[in-house]
Amino acid sequence: MTSIQTREGSVTDENNQADSAVLRVNQLTKRFGPGCSFCEHEELEENYCPVCGSVRACSNVSFDLDRGEILGIVGESGSGKSTLVKSLYFDQQVTSGSAHIQDYKNGEANIFTESAQQQRYIRNYIMGMVYQNPHLGLKMDYSSSGNVAEKLISAGHFHVGNIRDRSAELLEKVEIPVSRMDEQPQRFSGGMQQRVQISKALANNPPLLLLDEVTTGLDLSVQAKVLDLIRSIQRELQVAMIVVSHDLGVIRMLADRTMVMKQGKVVEQGLTDQILEDPQHPYTQLLVHSLL
Ligand SMILES: Nc1ncnc2c1ncn2[C@@H]1O[C@H](COP(=O)(O)OP(=O)(O)OP(=O)(O)O)[C@@H](O)[C@H]1O
Ligand SMILES: [Mg+2]
Ligand SMILES: [Zn+2]
Repeated sequence: MTSIQTREGSVTDENNQADSAVLRVNQLTKRFGPGCSFCEHEELEENYCPVCGSVRACSNVSFDLDRGEILGIVGESGSGKSTLVKSLYFDQQVTSGSAHIQDYKNGEANIFTESAQQQRYIRNYIMGMVYQNPHLGLKMDYSSSGNVAEKLISAGHFHVGNIRDRSAELLEKVEIPVSRMDEQPQRFSGGMQQRVQISKALANNPPLLLLDEVTTGLDLSVQAKVLDLIRSIQRELQVAMIVVSHDLGVIRMLADRTMVMKQGKVVEQGLTDQILEDPQHPYTQLLVHSLL
């Protein structure tokens, strides 16, 4: 349920959009394939259309994300988690639905129908993304500082000295030593590559960060470090984040609220503690029990 919470004091806010949501997503649907009269009108059991072979990777996904909040998205492989964040980052074009960002035109524009130029602006100034596959997020044969600098330049920074200082500062924040900032990410370990991605994603101080399976495939000690880092960033910078993971343990550590997806649909959402203590949907129950 996407209830807009009215908080005490917000009535005095002169802006009548007094809710604190940084991002509002409404009925986001992404279909891969042509679609047909069957899958466009019938409720599909699974996310696959038996008639035309299209995949409904996301079906009418709706949620709000509050400022500074971490929303976890959990679900089995193929449930549409990556498609959802990639759609929000404009890597995929949605089939239908809307998303509004408070920091962009005061939340009045549906970002999916904005021009390519405006969408680039939103990516560069308002969002940061960490891909599960670091090859999608980094140029492996640039220097690490160059990767961060690239994001700074797209966000309108042009002073070379400042860019270098800021890149160093960002890489230090994720514990990449300054002495190695000019090394190429291809020479880094998986965990280090993820940390370079995080510093790149933070470069423009975005109010919204999208993290897709940021710790998957890392060994436990590195995973713990990356999770700590994400938590400290959230505390320090009050960035709102969407954290995608198939690992409920990661979600439990990070997320205030959690959304559970299955076959492209949201089957359950609520406070993470509540979902873990008292899962309602059989699929969530299965997930929770397999965690124990
Ligand atoms: N580019 C694409 N072309 C066609 N189908 C796609 C494409 N990307 C994703 N899909 C399909 O969309 C569905 C959802 O995929 P998605 O990658 O979003 O799942 P996921 O929840 O991120 O899974 P995982 O946990 O394995 O990363 C899958 O059935 C997948 O085959
Ligand atoms: Mg994925
Ligand atoms: Zn179809």
